[in-house]
Amino acid sequence: MIRINENYLKLKASYLFSDIAKRVGAYTAANPDKPVIRLGIGDVTEPLAPSVLKAFHAGVDEMAVRATFKGYGPEQGYAFLREAIAAHDYAARGCPIAADEIFVSDGSKCDCGNIQEIFATEGLKLAIPDPVYPVYVDTNVMAGRTGTNLDGRYQCITYLDCTPANGYVPAIPSGASDLIYLCFPNNPTGAVATREQLAAWVAYAKANKALILFDSAYEAYIRDPKIPHSIYEIPGADEVAIEFRSFSKTAGFTGTRCAYTVVPKKLQAYDAAGNAHGVHALWNRRHTTKFNGVSYPVQKAAAAIYTPEGQAEVKAMTDFYLANAALIRKAMNDLGFSTVGGDNAPYIWVNTGTDSWAFFDKLLNEAQVVCTPGAGFGKCGEGHVRISAFNSRENVEKALVRIAAALKKA
Ligand code: MLT
Repeated sequence: MIRINENYLKLKASYLFSDIAKRVGAYTAANPDKPVIRLGIGDVTEPLAPSVLKAFHAGVDEMAVRATFKGYGPEQGYAFLREAIAAHDYAARGCPIAADEIFVSDGSKCDCGNIQEIFATEGLKLAIPDPVYPVYVDTNVMAGRTGTNLDGRYQCITYLDCTPANGYVPAIPSGASDLIYLCFPNNPTGAVATREQLAAWVAYAKANKALILFDSAYEAYIRDPKIPHSIYEIPGADEVAIEFRSFSKTAGFTGTRCAYTVVPKKLQAYDAAGNAHGVHALWNRRHTTKFNGVSYPVQKAAAAIYTPEGQAEVKAMTDFYLANAALIRKAMNDLGFSTVGGDNAPYIWVNTGTDSWAFFDKLLNEAQVVCTPGAGFGKCGEGHVRISAFNSRENVEKALVRIAAALKKA
């Protein structure tokens, strides 16, 4: 008899963004004359930048000629891309990261979800923020590291509360942790962590022989020069942290798919007897066994963002979304809500103080605008909604007029 992984039964029936898509699908089917504006899932709308597109086309053309055709590439990514990442994203910021510590992949969602496979399933102490990108929690539930969900929280997770009181940046737990998830600029709140706050996490991880999984998929949105873009800007972080980065939100690759994960060679984790093992070798083993690399034209396209033209173009793209974010933040503040995010992140976290799914339904039904209910990101997300800045200017402006009209009506 084929048996299931019963840990899946502990999960909520569907993934947050599938759930929302289903609700929006039902609404649009019932109201075909009412076009909906999507400020829910963080999916980009602006086309690929010209230099990215040019490199993408050139990569495809190379595949059409026997002399330059490529079959399987290196699973970890082509050297031209890994070297460009190491130089521009790390060396330029003084971070001690080498090209062979970078693993190119088809998405940070997959990497954030898959990384837990290389760590113990029994007895690992997990520390996960709340609210949080649901992938971190759900993949640990699937792997059997948690108990059941009681009153909105899984047993065996230390939740790191992010609330208005702490500026949505979690405090370091009083007890020990082994595997810590952090995301800055944060999804969903848009909050950022200072150098001092990250340094405290690095010190905590060192003291506990713990490992930090640092998701910095939104670093390209940081405009405050004091805020670190990488955890490796903190001395010693290469001994305790893995970092996830994505081209999705940096350069509009949500449909093109390209990301990377940094696993420094200094990073160690321990077996049951306390012997240290290199995490880089474990991830390399996992990556080469289960992944065959990102397509050559896509890696060429990704590498183009590191040219001077590419840098200017993707900066203009993130500036564009940040200008949307500023409009959203101001409009929500003018309506009387307090907000966080939107200045160094493409998400605005709105403190509505009301049931977040009810607020979502109100915006959908009365303004035909999709947001993301905070409760979908965890218990501390209740009373909040996330509004994404990823859309055209015209749609954002239209959505804000509709939201104001719907909320003033109430
Ligand atoms: C989000 O809306 O939280 C993100 O788009 C999800 C993702 O990047 O997978």
